[in-house]
Order: sequence, then C-alpha cells, then structure tokens
Amino acid sequence: MAKFDIVLQAQGITKQFPGVLANDRVDFDLRRGEIHVLLGENGAGKSTLMNVLYGLYKADSGEVTVEGVPLHLNSPRDAIMHGIGMVHQHFMLIPVFTVTENIMLGAETNHRASQSDAPLAKLDRAEVAQKIRDLSHQYRLDVNPDAIVGDLPVGVQQRVEIVKALYRKANILILDEPTAVLTPQEAEELFRIMHDLTREGVSIIFITHKLKEVLAVADRITVMRGGRVVGSAIPKDSDEHKLAAMMVGRDVILTVKKKPAQPKETVLSVNQLNVKDVRGLNAVNEVSFTVRAGEVLGIAGVQGNGQTELAEALTGLRSIESGRFSLLGADLTGRPPRPITEAGLAHIPEDRQRYGLVLSYSVADNMILCDYYQPRFSKGIVIQQKNVDANAEKLIKDFDVRTPSPFTPAGKLSGGNQQKVIVARELSRPVKLLIASQPTRGLDVGSIEYIHKEIILMRDRGVAVLLISAELDEIMSLSDRIAVMYRGAIITTLDRKAATREGLGLLMAGGQEAPA
Ligand SMILES: Nc1ncnc2c1ncn2[C@@H]1O[C@H](COP(=O)(O)OP(=O)(O)OP(=O)(O)O)[C@@H](O)[C@H]1O
Ligand SMILES: [Mg+2]
Repeated sequence: MAKFDIVLQAQGITKQFPGVLANDRVDFDLRRGEIHVLLGENGAGKSTLMNVLYGLYKADSGEVTVEGVPLHLNSPRDAIMHGIGMVHQHFMLIPVFTVTENIMLGAETNHRASQSDAPLAKLDRAEVAQKIRDLSHQYRLDVNPDAIVGDLPVGVQQRVEIVKALYRKANILILDEPTAVLTPQEAEELFRIMHDLTREGVSIIFITHKLKEVLAVADRITVMRGGRVVGSAIPKDSDEHKLAAMMVGRDVILTVKKKPAQPKETVLSVNQLNVKDVRGLNAVNEVSFTVRAGEVLGIAGVQGNGQTELAEALTGLRSIESGRFSLLGADLTGRPPRPITEAGLAHIPEDRQRYGLVLSYSVADNMILCDYYQPRFSKGIVIQQKNVDANAEKLIKDFDVRTPSPFTPAGKLSGGNQQKVIVARELSRPVKLLIASQPTRGLDVGSIEYIHKEIILMRDRGVAVLLISAELDEIMSLSDRIAVMYRGAIITTLDRKAATREGLGLLMAGGQEAPA
C-alpha cells in the first residue's frame, strides 16, 4: 500500500504574525500509520504549524507535500482534498444541530467547490446518517447521528469531529490538544480509537501537554520552542523530566513543595445547596462544606458530576434551587457575580472563552476585567491608562504570558497564553476566596509549575482556595483536604494524608474506598 513511507512533509515553514515569528523555518514529517506527537511550551507555534498544514493560515514561505505531491494550500478545502483532517483546540461544531447536520454542513460546500459546474447534488440525509453509523461502527466511535451536538459530553463531541474528518476521507489526522478537555477514561478511549485508526493506515499528529500521554502513545516526538523545532525523541529513550527540559529549556520541578496548611477562620460556607443543570436536572444535591482561610479544599470527581454547576452557582453564574452559601459570614445566595466578586472572590472559570476573557479586548484590558471601575484604574469615566498598562506589564512578566504586546487582542494569543491571562488576573487580586476550576488546563509543564506555586503562596497568605480539577495529580499535589463528588453529591471528604490515587479513583467511580 505504501508508495511513500512519508505521507506528509513540511519543509522550511515560516509564518510571521505582527510582532511574533510563530514558525521559523520548521521542518516536519509524518510517516504512514504513526502517531507523531508535537510537543512544546505555550506559544511555541504548534497550532500555527497545524493551521498551515490545514490551509487555515498561509505560510510566508516553505513547502508542504503529501505523498510526494506539493500542495497549494489556500483553504481547508485544499487540505481536505488531500486527505488532511483536523480537530481543533477549540471545537467548531454547531451545538443546536444534530451530528448528521454538522457533518453534512462542510461536506456540501466541499461538494460545491470540487464540482463547481455540476448541478448541486443534494446530500441525502439518510445516506449520510448511515455512513456515520458505518464509520462509528468500524472504529468503535459510538456516535449517534441523530443526537443534538450540544447535548453530548465533550468526549463524544470530539469523536463527532473525528467522524467528520473520516467522512471526508481523511487519512492524515491532526488532533490539537484533544485530551485537554477529556476525562482520563475518555482519553483512554481516544487512544484506543487512535490506535485503531493507525492500524488502518491513518497517520496522526497529536498535540498534548500531558507528558505521561506523550510517553504512552507516541511513536515519535518532535519538540518546538519559540517557533523552531528544537529536538526530537522516541518514548523508549525518554522520560517526563527529559521531555520537560527539552521543551522549556530548563529543569522543571514536577511536584509542588509546600508546608502543612495552617487553616484559620471559615471563609466559604456552603449549606445544603441544590442546583439544576442546563436541562433542568438535579446537578448538585444537598451539598454542604466549608473552606477555611489558609487551606486548599480540592474537589475530585469525574467531569460531569456536578462540579461545573457547583462552581457556577457559587460565582453567581447559575441560579440556586435551594440551600445557601456565605463568604465570611455574608449570605450571598442568589446574588449576581459582581457583588460576590466585591465580597472577595477570585474565579478561574472552566470555560475560558465564554466567561474568562473578552477575546476582542486587549491583554491589558482583560487583565482588569473585574477591577476596571476601581479608583486605581479609573477616575470617574477617565481610564487611568498608565496604571492599566503598568498592571499588564507586571502580570505579563510575572506569569510569563507570551504576547507581542499588552495591546494585542487576547484572541490572538495561543490557547495556553489565553489561560495565563485569566490566571494572572485572578491570582493577583486581593481576595479572600479563590475558586479555581481546571486552572492549568492547556498549560505547559513550566507554566503549571509556576501557577501551582502561586496558588500555594495565596493559601499561605490566608486565602481560602476551592480547587476543582479533573486532574488527579493536581488535586493530590495542591489540596490539604479532598472532597469527592459523585452524581451531584459529596460522598466523602478526606484529609490529603489519608488519600491515595487508587482510593480516590475508586471513590470517583462511585465505589467504596478500598479498605486499608
Ligand atoms: N491569528 C493570529 N494572529 C496573531 N498572532 C497569532 C495568531 N495565531 C497565533 N499567533 C501567535 O503565534 C504564536 C504561536 O501561537 P500558537 O497558537 O501556534 O502556539 P501553540 O504552540 O499552539 O501554544 P499553546 O500550547 O498555548 O496552544 C503565539 O505567540 C501567538 O500569539
Ligand atoms: Mg495551540
């Protein structure tokens, strides 16, 4: 079958954005049936390179060939015609449409484009649905063509994106941080699917920041830094520390050092809280807990067990059915976000593009999103531009936000750097309570190291921290106490010292903790 062992080759790819050389003479190749991991710190240029291969960005120079044929990539259509499919870092499906409708959408344009003179043959919905069922069956993707996309868990939405690419006959698949939003179980399932695909001759480019995953699934690893390829590796000759050092250019400490907590007064008190989800079903069930000044309470749980709704309720983003919560004794039940923020809350939201940032605003303006009306930043209606800029410059430096300037729109930043803008803003405000939902999602190991240190510093300054994370490692390394959430309820709360990975894993799955 293989006429060329190398299916895709990119040579000398250069892409300049205003103020950043995102790709600097990048060479990259992909072999048939391999999983090639692309690794690199936030802003290294990974998504840019993939967007060039997918025809979304036009390279300033360089050449891409598929099966030895040079491509003229002017749009994703050209990439798709040559068998390249891509699942993006931020999903591109339309939530109110069914799976079939979503898959038909692009395909119609595709059809029109490739046969512009032919009468536009209408795609038969039943036929498309059947094709989806076949693909779903062949690769064990478990995708129902009639489901409404918005009702599906993210893990399944991602599989819809994969079906969409396969429907368009992709044999080169680009997966840009697919596991960032997946539960460990969903990620395992995705790896199984990836292996099934490669066995059928599909070649995969896989981007992830999780080094354990890299070592588990990669056939080859290419590392980028500052727009350039700086090295390559294969899992059997590598380990997490080597990979981390290669990507960041220094040694990274992968575990957090911290002293035992010195908890003080109760800051957050939650009493028999009940919250419904978007579909009106009970998502949070009679939840009660407290978080004290100077401690980190971690909420462990498989995603979708009410953590998102709990965080939204406590930050004023979702209405509460019954129960109450208070911050330093002040009842805030049912209040909107602003008074809760003013009472001393910092919030790192799970959905950064929806609640965390205004993508069209500059980095500097996003960094004062919660405080813009404070005297420090505005006098009457006059913005104190000097202070706004100084604030941004300090945070950009402290949190190592890679941006050409403080005035760049946040939407132009790489995924991880967008997250860093939110984290920098929220961790730098003088607050009593920090609610951090998936605070390091999409961040590289170097940035995770820094953010973890900052969260512990906040704790040591007397801030109460509620940490919600799907990463068991993160929960284990930051928490002083761990509450396990399952089907909307907190089924147990443990001292960190009494918790083990295995025990937590069992509890998260709704089982009993194994006897010691
Ligand atoms: N559309 C754009 N306009 C301007 N600059 C951009 C654009 N897209 C990317 N950049 C810049 O190019 C650089 C590389 O970004 P890219 O998204 O490729 O990084 P990445 O390696 O995917 O990082 P992450 O791990 O955070 O997703 C960054 O400095 C980013 O700000
Ligand atoms: Mg990216």
